[in-house]
Amino acid sequence: MEVAIIGANGQLGSDLVNVFGEKALPLSHDEIEVKDINSCRRALEDVDIVINCAGYINVDESEDNPEEAFMVNAIGAKNVALACNEKQMKNMYISTDFVFDGEKKEPYQEDDNPNPINTYGLSKYAGEILTRNLSLCGALPHDPASPVMAYKKALPKKYYIIRSSSLYGKKGARGKGGNFVDWMIEKANNNEVIKVVDDVEMSPTYTKDAAKMIKDMIEKELPFGIYHVTNRGHCSWFTFAKKIFEFFDIDAKLSPIKSDELNRKARRPKFSALENTKLNSFGLRMRSWEDALKDYLKEKQYSI
Ligand SMILES: NC(=O)c1ccc[n+]([C@@H]2O[C@H](COP(=O)([O-])OP(=O)(O)OC[C@H]3O[C@@H](n4cnc5c(N)ncnc54)[C@H](OP(=O)(O)O)[C@@H]3O)[C@@H](O)[C@H]2O)c1
Repeated sequence: MEVAIIGANGQLGSDLVNVFGEKALPLSHDEIEVKDINSCRRALEDVDIVINCAGYINVDESEDNPEEAFMVNAIGAKNVALACNEKQMKNMYISTDFVFDGEKKEPYQEDDNPNPINTYGLSKYAGEILTRNLSLCGALPHDPASPVMAYKKALPKKYYIIRSSSLYGKKGARGKGGNFVDWMIEKANNNEVIKVVDDVEMSPTYTKDAAKMIKDMIEKELPFGIYHVTNRGHCSWFTFAKKIFEFFDIDAKLSPIKSDELNRKARRPKFSALENTKLNSFGLRMRSWEDALKDYLKEKQYSI
């Protein structure tokens, strides 16, 4: 089995490359431009499955730059789906908890209705819809300019949509210039006053765990469809920061604030924890976010 990984030098992509080892065909941004269908056609060789981790992931910048967010997250997803169809490859799109509005106040399940409240979330939801509707079994006599033709063909679908949340991993997110855990530790080491929001809840997720689970899902040939893949449980960003300092054993100057005080461009869902309902139904279980965090701190050789 061969697996192409788009966004291979990104935070999640690099862990996927590690877990798949010699089965991985890593594709960095130099080797594939998802905005360009011909680049996708050229770069995507005949593999079994393509994992699309490419993303325009900066949530606030997406408000200023919606065209680019949609080009990468939505049109990119369309191009990858169409290129996959031509070579009969399975297609996996990495999505986000930000497709939800956060009003549910309990963990979202795979079949809950998305209702994004910012541009990034909307562009990712558009990417989900295009992936879902265009990833078809069988050869596709399509006109790339008119993907609706493909949509109208009632062929069986062959896609996975993986929604994850609040990712942190060894590499740090390229699109954000790092990850929350590393930023917290850096600030604490610099003896800075650290203010973190306590009114936004999510499921922090270690990319190494998400990558291992994705490999498991593919190897076990789970049925196509949408899956939530996050570390178990949820917390506020403030609680997450508190745990980082507790495990790291550092006396940080941490205080809670409300998200409104940050004056950020994009609204965030107040509660976007995800329940891995479908994984659990197949007997697959992610570890808790606390255990994953401990492991990450060890892997990064922060003392705990
Ligand atoms: N980070 C999170 O908290 C989070 C949470 C939930 C879901 N997700 C989703 O998870 C996926 C991976 O996120 P991540 O944290 O690993 O982000 P990342 O480190 O920024 O990785 C994204 C990768 O995509 C590549 N890329 C960007 N634009 C591209 C394009 N037009 N064509 C081809 N490649 C392109 C980037 O390459 P260059 O940097 O070289 O341009 C980078 O390697 C994204 O789809 C994101 O929406 C992320």
